[in-house]
Amino acid sequence: MVSADSKAGVPRHVAIVMDGNGRWAKKRFLPRFFGHKQGVDALVRVVQACIDREIEYLTVFAFSSENWKRPSDEVSGLMGLVLAAVSRYLARMGAMGVRIRIVGDREAVSDKLRAAWAEAETSTAHNSKLTLNVAFNYGGRWDIVQACRRAIEDGVPAAELTEAKLSEYMAMNYAPDPDLFIRTGGELRISNFMLWQTAYTEFVFSDCLWPEFGEAQLDEAIAAFRARDRRFGGVNAPGVPQEA
Ligand code: FPP
Repeated sequence: MVSADSKAGVPRHVAIVMDGNGRWAKKRFLPRFFGHKQGVDALVRVVQACIDREIEYLTVFAFSSENWKRPSDEVSGLMGLVLAAVSRYLARMGAMGVRIRIVGDREAVSDKLRAAWAEAETSTAHNSKLTLNVAFNYGGRWDIVQACRRAIEDGVPAAELTEAKLSEYMAMNYAPDPDLFIRTGGELRISNFMLWQTAYTEFVFSDCLWPEFGEAQLDEAIAAFRARDRRFGGVNAPGVPQEA
């Protein structure tokens, strides 16, 4: 789904790879866990900043399908941190008008975390200010494969499996494609994030480590996004709005 920018220059959907927590901690001679902990605070800040800028969807990469390869104490630390974050911030997110949706393979996570996700989703389902998609045990390739599998299970004939049809089976079928992708932490790669949905997304890479990311850095990324000439494969002159 191609998203038209909702208001002049404001991305409707921002996707973020929150990278650099470990390095932030290392610079301070702290265990990596402390970086992730600060990362949760940065996320809460950025959620508020997105609401203030009338961004409608924010998708964050909280745990990738590949993050299981990390040392087991870091994996269990992250799981515990997410559980703690849900209990600490859920009411606040709800009061801010945030709808929380979890995207990813829930099979491999603990019953406790699955239950916390379910509570976060149901208790915020009526909110509409900002949809916060938390990609957890998510991978772009996983998403494409699960979409194909479900389409096959539904008996969609091969000839009818168009891009639009497959999009209906993608995990974030309710959201427009991201307009702006931000990766913090200085690495220049997509790391199996939203592979299907980022076909025409504008990419901004920031050297800022995620725990230090805030309003100023978000505004920098939005300014870079505004300066882009989005043609979606067409030939529109700069500054001329793209027709749907
Ligand atoms: C990447 O930094 C960050 C992660 C793998 C985890 C991000 C998770 C959070 C910020 C917590 C989210 C919490 C909720 C409730 C959604 P890194 O560890 O790869 O950093 P490095 O590249 O410096 O080592």
